[in-house]
Amino acid sequence: MLSNKQTDADHQESVFKAMKALTDMQPQVAADPHRLRYHFMAPAAWINDPNGMIFFKGEYHLFYQIHPFSAENGLKHWGHAKSRDLIHWEHLPIALAPTEEFERNGCFSGSAIDHNGVLTVFYTGNVASTGYKKQVQCIATSEDGITFRKYAGNPVISDFPELDGSWDFRDPKVWHHDGVWYMALGSGKDGTGNALLYRSSNLLEWAYVGVMAEGPPGEGEYWNCPDFFSLEGKDVLLASPGVSPQDQDVRTNIYRVGQLNYETGKFEAEWESQIDYGPDFYAPQTLIDDRGRVILIGWMDMWWNPMPTKAYGWTGAMTVPRVVKLTPDGRLAFEPAPELQVLRDGHRAYGPATVYPDGENRLSEVQGDSLEIIACFDLDASQTTEFGFRLRRSTDGTQETVVSYDPACHELVVDRTKSGLVDGGVSRVRLYPDEHRMLKLHMFIDRSSLEVFANDGSVNATYRLYPNPDSLGLALFAQGGPVQVTSLDVWKLKSVWG
Ligand code: FRU
Repeated sequence: MLSNKQTDADHQESVFKAMKALTDMQPQVAADPHRLRYHFMAPAAWINDPNGMIFFKGEYHLFYQIHPFSAENGLKHWGHAKSRDLIHWEHLPIALAPTEEFERNGCFSGSAIDHNGVLTVFYTGNVASTGYKKQVQCIATSEDGITFRKYAGNPVISDFPELDGSWDFRDPKVWHHDGVWYMALGSGKDGTGNALLYRSSNLLEWAYVGVMAEGPPGEGEYWNCPDFFSLEGKDVLLASPGVSPQDQDVRTNIYRVGQLNYETGKFEAEWESQIDYGPDFYAPQTLIDDRGRVILIGWMDMWWNPMPTKAYGWTGAMTVPRVVKLTPDGRLAFEPAPELQVLRDGHRAYGPATVYPDGENRLSEVQGDSLEIIACFDLDASQTTEFGFRLRRSTDGTQETVVSYDPACHELVVDRTKSGLVDGGVSRVRLYPDEHRMLKLHMFIDRSSLEVFANDGSVNATYRLYPNPDSLGLALFAQGGPVQVTSLDVWKLKSVWG
């Protein structure tokens, strides 16, 4: 693919500037007690969506949206890191910096492919000012997997389809099927979000096919970050509706399982649900690795969050990697990647046991800000009205995050009203026990985050929390009657960040 020498030189210069800014911020960032221990974070500054996730030449690559000059949302570049095991990441130079007129306000989200051994990324060039927006689709390539050159013919798609799209027209996801390249783009029409499908034989010329899928009216005026993959004979579409903070009940992420009809370009959905029910999860992406596994990572934060880590020069992180599985009933489950087990340290097993209201806390000797907990409860053998965990507790009990289950309402309740620097309120997620009336909770606690995976990844929720560094207590409790714990395992988790 042709590049332009002057463009390459300008780009390198902008990349160096961004790298220098990140290096300068690092001492401030390192002083933050809320820096995570085993989640992916950028060296410094604001980050949001994962981009260009790909398994390339034996390594996992993760790109991401970054504003390298501050911890505020701003001019977007593509950050870059790689890993051999999905857990330990090596930071690489900034991959894309905005240099062209049509990307004046940022290199927005997109995807990556392996094109005959060349790492090829697709991204959105963004121009936005008050009352005006133009988003176009661009390509850049890398021979060494580190330094990227922008295609001299960019943009490769310069206008949205008038009939079906709008100026919100971004986040290309590209894949290959039967010798043809396809691209899904997030857009919307008349207040309804959609994914628009394009087709190409050479990656440079793209023909518009049609609306691949759309959301119900009222669920985001446009869709962001469509993602697409096939799994065990089914096709899967992911999307992140563009939602305003006041639309509390609108879903911010969805998945659909079904079949993409490549003749009509329509995604025929058989099942639709949510990937994650927590408030701090957005814009997930997937890659397929050498073992054929679909690995999903999401941005672990949200646009409108208070983000107290800004005071230390950074915001945003990625969720733990999750393996996407098709369940026998045609739904999806998202399980923590087994690679996470390398972090385990200091295992303790409790149970089987009955936990009584006012009983002694069985976990009183477990302390930690980086823990993994797997607990199974037998609801048939329990008479409780509420049970669960108090975590990140202060010694006087005034600070805590409560993760509990309400068996009468079938709800997972996460109370962050006393979590620390930010009052995250109380969130409730519908959760049913399995057919044997068993409930399994698998939790990952890090210095400023909590991810709950229930019933083998069938219902999940992601949260940020900002407790005092010395709020380390853990308690198991029951109310209204005893709860039967069939097994309970707790691990301390190691840090991946030196
Ligand atoms: C989603 C999103 C994308 C866009 C990017 C900009 O969070 O709004 O649609 O490309 O973030 O950073």
